[in-house]
Amino acid sequence: MKELLTTIQCVFLLFLYFSNVFVICTDEIVDPSLAPMEKTEQEALYSAIQGFVGSWWNGSDLYPDPCGWTPIQGVYCDLYDGLWYVSDINIGPIYDNSLWCSPSADFSHHLFKLKHLKALSFFSCFTSPNQNPVTISNLRWEKFTHSLESLEFRLNPGLIGTIPTSFGNLTKLQSLVLLENGLNGKLPMEIGYLVHLRKLVLSGNHFLGQIPPSLGQLSELLILDFSRNNLSGSLTLAFGSLRSLLKLDLSNNMLKGDLPGEIGELKNLTLLDLGSNNFSGGLVQSLGEMVSLKEMVLSNNPVEGDLNNIQWEKLQSLEVLDLSNTGLRGNIPESLAEMEKLRFLGLNYNSLSGTVPPRLATLPCISTLYLGGNNLTGELGFSGEFYRKMGRRFGAWNNPNLCHSAQLSSTNYAPYGVKPCNQESNRYKGVSNEKMSSTEGDWNSTNNSFLVESLGLSRYSFGGFWHVFFVQGMFIIFS
Ligand SMILES: *[C@@H]1O[C@H](CO)[C@@H](O)[C@H](O)[C@H]1NC(C)=O
Ligand SMILES: *[C@@H]1O[C@H](CO)[C@@H](O)[C@H](O)[C@H]1NC(C)=O
Ligand SMILES: *[C@@H]1O[C@H](CO)[C@@H](O)[C@H](O)[C@H]1NC(C)=O
Ligand SMILES: *[C@@H]1O[C@H](CO)[C@@H](O)[C@H](O)[C@H]1NC(C)=O
Ligand SMILES: *[C@@H]1O[C@H](CO)[C@@H](O)[C@H](O)[C@H]1NC(C)=O
Ligand SMILES: *[C@@H]1O[C@H](CO)[C@@H](O)[C@H](O)[C@H]1NC(C)=O
Ligand SMILES: *[C@@H]1O[C@H](CO)[C@@H](O)[C@H](O)[C@H]1NC(C)=O
Ligand SMILES: *[C@@H]1O[C@H](CO)[C@@H](O)[C@H](O)[C@H]1NC(C)=O
Repeated sequence: MKELLTTIQCVFLLFLYFSNVFVICTDEIVDPSLAPMEKTEQEALYSAIQGFVGSWWNGSDLYPDPCGWTPIQGVYCDLYDGLWYVSDINIGPIYDNSLWCSPSADFSHHLFKLKHLKALSFFSCFTSPNQNPVTISNLRWEKFTHSLESLEFRLNPGLIGTIPTSFGNLTKLQSLVLLENGLNGKLPMEIGYLVHLRKLVLSGNHFLGQIPPSLGQLSELLILDFSRNNLSGSLTLAFGSLRSLLKLDLSNNMLKGDLPGEIGELKNLTLLDLGSNNFSGGLVQSLGEMVSLKEMVLSNNPVEGDLNNIQWEKLQSLEVLDLSNTGLRGNIPESLAEMEKLRFLGLNYNSLSGTVPPRLATLPCISTLYLGGNNLTGELGFSGEFYRKMGRRFGAWNNPNLCHSAQLSSTNYAPYGVKPCNQESNRYKGVSNEKMSSTEGDWNSTNNSFLVESLGLSRYSFGGFWHVFFVQGMFIIFS
């Protein structure tokens, strides 16, 4: 009995001993209330924020201990050598108590005194291009050379001017997001110095000129989105070095020339959107080598060429294929029906001819099929059940020589804008003009981007892409 007691006492003492050590350890390493903040760092933080939110904001009054017991919404700190430093500043109306910018918001030079700043973001901060246009000065960014990993400006129409060349000094940057601002001018080649970038988003500004070939050096890039600008010239990027890319979106610019054959080297790419540009020269064969691709969008380009140029059966991950309004000629190959994951197929507004392969209806996931505005001929070989399932997401209107099985006319499932085949000699004239034009007009008022959006597919809907941005962003910030 006595022995047992001593053993228990021993264990208890050991426990006390270790828990004590543990407490001492946590005290030393983590207890934030004891860690001080340099006066200069604290003053710099107050002045920097004041520059954005207005001089009424008295930081020392409102937040005497900004990294401790009076945290500022959107501001985060890290310990370096036992002292608090600001690591993360987010300005803009994300939450009710977030820091809102004043109408006269501007950059204060105090911002650049924060020597451990890792992430800086501005959301809807500079909003009046007329009353208070703000430019990003070329000065001082080199102060962040050894710290800044993420820089984001989203939805700041009042942020104008060019990207400063001094951004080229931010060599630790992993994420540069300049989304929906009023920025313009040419893209500086210095962006090519940011070799650790994983995410580069310049979408929705007024950038023009060529995409600098130096961007081909960004070998760690996962997301490249330059959509909705005025970029021109041909694609001179060295895609061979961008092999990590997952998303490439250059849609809605004025890019032209051939689709580069090198694009096939992007084996990990899941999204390729080159829609609404001026690309030409046919469907390059190497598109068929992008084996990870889930979405390929080339719509609204005078690409021309022939669907038979590509081995579609290799693209076993493809879910969305939008080739509408691309000047395609020739027939629709059966091999399209071998892409088992295909959900969306847009071939409308081309010059396709020949018959429609009935095998397309056997695609297990197909939910949208647009064939309208071509010169397809003969009888559509799909079943009433297929039309019923697809509803308005099947479109074959504006193919004057196309018809559907006459038996369907007695059901409600006959496809819009397609006439029934007439067994008699005058094959393609069996429908009343009145009915035709009413359905046609109905369909003409829409277009693919509208229809795809209503389906919630990711290419067009920001939902999908944003999700990825968000996930990637978290990944980048917390990795
Ligand atoms: C903030 O308020 C304190 C008094 O509470 C005052 O001494 C200080 O000058 C104020 N600072 C600014 C920048 O207005
Ligand atoms: C980086 O900053 C230095 C000043 O410290 C400047 O001379 C140089 O031009 C900058 N580099 C770039 C690419 O802007
Ligand atoms: C592109 O440039 C044209 C003419 O230079 C201009 O009218 C148009 O607004 C610009 N578009 C964008 C998105 O900046
Ligand atoms: C492509 O993705 C795979 C799997 O995620 C990865 O192991 C590989 O490194 C990636 N390739 C490149 C060039 O990044
Ligand atoms: C597209 O490119 C062709 C020449 O390839 C040119 O004639 C046409 O003007 C361009 N269109 C636009 C909108 O830039
Ligand atoms: C459509 O195809 C028919 C033959 O099937 C041909 O006679 C006609 O010229 C074509 N129309 C156009 C606009 O290409
Ligand atoms: C539908 O659009 C095509 C091409 O834009 C046009 O030629 C045709 O007249 C339109 N039809 C109707 C009914 O508006
Ligand atoms: C497509 O439809 C959307 C929404 O209805 C419209 O904003 C856009 O301008 C249309 N695009 C074209 C090329 O007609």
